[in-house]
Amino acid sequence: MKVKIDSARCQGHGRCYDLAPDLFGEDDEGYGTVLGDGVVPEGRERDARLAVQNCPERAIDVIDV
Ligand code: F3S
Repeated sequence: MKVKIDSARCQGHGRCYDLAPDLFGEDDEGYGTVLGDGVVPEGRERDARLAVQNCPERAIDVIDV
């Protein structure tokens, strides 16, 4: 599983990096970023999906790899 943030949609709500700070970070302006290559480690899928569900802009996509 891999996560990706659509920067055109992200409005900086910050729920992704609050809920899963090991998967998401923030840039200088508070917009969400994916840490590393976005690959979700085993056992972290649940929080990845939680972040997806909690983004008010639906800016986070999950890709099954
Ligand atoms: Fe952006 Fe959504 Fe996270 S708006 S900062 S991707 S919760």
